[in-house]
Amino acid sequence: MLYKLLILPILQLINPEVSHFLAEKLLQLPFFSYLNPINYSKKNKITQTNIAGLELDSPIGLAAGYDKNCKTLKPLLSLGFGFVTGGTITLQERFGNPKPRLFHIPEKYALVNSLGFPSIGLDNVEKNLRKSKGIKKSLFLSVSGVTEDEIISCVERLEEYTNIFEINVSSPNTSGLRVFHNPSALSKLVEKIKSISRNKILIKLPPWEDKDKDEYLDLARTSIISGADGLVIANSMPIMNNKLAVGKGGISGKVLTKNTQRMIAEIRSALGSDPIIIACGGIFDEKDVWNCLALGADLCQAYTGFIYNGPFFAYTINKKLAKLMKEKNVNSLEEIKGLSLV
Ligand SMILES: Cc1cc2nc3c(=O)[nH]c(=O)nc-3n(C[C@H](O)[C@H](O)[C@H](O)COP(=O)(O)O)c2cc1C
Repeated sequence: MLYKLLILPILQLINPEVSHFLAEKLLQLPFFSYLNPINYSKKNKITQTNIAGLELDSPIGLAAGYDKNCKTLKPLLSLGFGFVTGGTITLQERFGNPKPRLFHIPEKYALVNSLGFPSIGLDNVEKNLRKSKGIKKSLFLSVSGVTEDEIISCVERLEEYTNIFEINVSSPNTSGLRVFHNPSALSKLVEKIKSISRNKILIKLPPWEDKDKDEYLDLARTSIISGADGLVIANSMPIMNNKLAVGKGGISGKVLTKNTQRMIAEIRSALGSDPIIIACGGIFDEKDVWNCLALGADLCQAYTGFIYNGPFFAYTINKKLAKLMKEKNVNSLEEIKGLSLV
């Protein structure tokens, strides 16, 4: 409440990249994880889950892009997320697109960005990862590049730091990635990654509208047939916007919630029960999590919901989801699959 009434309005007056920098500094304070009361709160057994052999405390994870350089993974995890996604990590250092490249639309609970993968590059990210010991089982790493070799180099070097790679072929702000929207290029990429990595591989797809469903379901099938273990559905939605220096970017937040639910239902029905499906896009509360799980997702990720709700975001979802499950006489997350929406 305090965050929404007092802190968020102040943060919205500041340039969003500056407020992100300030939040990062706060998370980096020595002993943040130990001083943070959420870290000591009792874990809800009922919201624990096992995906791909990994025991996670909650189905809600932090989506890629918030901690691109893996500087604050441990303190972020201590806020109650079941898992955190570091990255997107690129092989070379990149400065991203010219500014302005990020702004809020508060009345829509949305963000618009055209960051274009600013990254300190693989060597420097690896130095940061060496410092975040003890969180491997709750750490996903997102990697990308515009060539197969760039992505493979990241996977090879980061293999030991995670059990799950997310391959980002869907950022709307890096045009070179479109090469992997060609099914044969995507298939070759996935096969190559699987031949060198023992980790689970998730492909993060772009979002689609109803009219483009066949094309994107085809990419999803191609990913799984080529050996991917699952999919993240999806990245931010491409839009044109003159406030961005480059004129186009991606929108995220509440505007995506309904579209995410439709895509999850379509993808689960197209691919069957085996692949891991992570819902990402417009997850703001325990009802959004419930609905995505009911429609077939195994886990959820959020970015914009965290920005608008603040540090208690994941903790509150866990608490309210556990309460909702008890009210509905549901004893495990698995049982939510196929139930009615709330
Ligand atoms: C500022 C910003 C930066 C992002 N950076 C990345 C990124 O580096 N890699 C990626 O896969 N997704 C990135 N995303 C997309 C998010 O991970 C997520 O897919 C998208 O925002 C939809 O989820 P949301 O509505 O919960 O924000 C970014 C999103 C935002 C708002």
